Amino acid sequence: MKIIKAKDYQDFSKKAASILAAQVTLKPDSVLGLATGSTPIGTYDELVARYERGEVDFSQITTVNLDEYKGLDKDDEQSYSYFMNKHLFDRINVDKKRTHLPDGMAADPEKECERYEKLIEEIGGVDLQVMGIGNNGHIAFCEPSTIFEKKTICLDLAEATIEANKRFFDSADDVPRKAYSMGIGTIMKGKKLMMLVYGEGKADILAKALLGDITPEVPASVLQLHPDVIVIGDEGALSKFPEC
Ligand code: PGA
Repeated sequence: MKIIKAKDYQDFSKKAASILAAQVTLKPDSVLGLATGSTPIGTYDELVARYERGEVDFSQITTVNLDEYKGLDKDDEQSYSYFMNKHLFDRINVDKKRTHLPDGMAADPEKECERYEKLIEEIGGVDLQVMGIGNNGHIAFCEPSTIFEKKTICLDLAEATIEANKRFFDSADDVPRKAYSMGIGTIMKGKKLMMLVYGEGKADILAKALLGDITPEVPASVLQLHPDVIVIGDEGALSKFPEC
């Protein structure tokens, strides 16, 4: 596991963008696994800046996102599809036909999970998967549980997640209660994983995930078993890692 410490949010975002840009430069038709949330917004802004300067070409990439709220249309401003268009896809030369998220409005959730899992396989799997970590240790929407979910699933959001994400909605009542999420097994099949963790508020859960027991009660702890993981954190997030 490679742990990279950033000075501040700008440095953090540039470091994450550099790794994504290097991936696309080395393999122009890379499959990028992408994430939403507050943490990667600066990374996406930085990728857009590099695209505008002519430094990176996204025309051949394919993307798959970690998750999507169930019950939200892709044009709903709270949907992750809308987030990705707004922060990245509408601002770079990606072919929108090759940007994928679970369909929050799918009529049959079980079939939608199967479709998404199969799609990831058919495009050859993920070359570089970006993710954050929730305050409760979740990755994607895989919440603390008694098992590591193997495949894409439709699941209930944890109260802690609803509480954390209500800042994006008018009230906690408006936060969808269910979401589609890649499973832990799906994420672990990614060839390279990059976890982005910003702020002192994540220091305890990050230390627990990366230095503690490997348990589905802390879903991110599974990353300890992956052979190629990069963690980018700022000084606050990494404050419980004395060696950093
Ligand atoms: P955040 O979300 O980037 O908004 O903190 C991270 C997550 O819940 O995975």
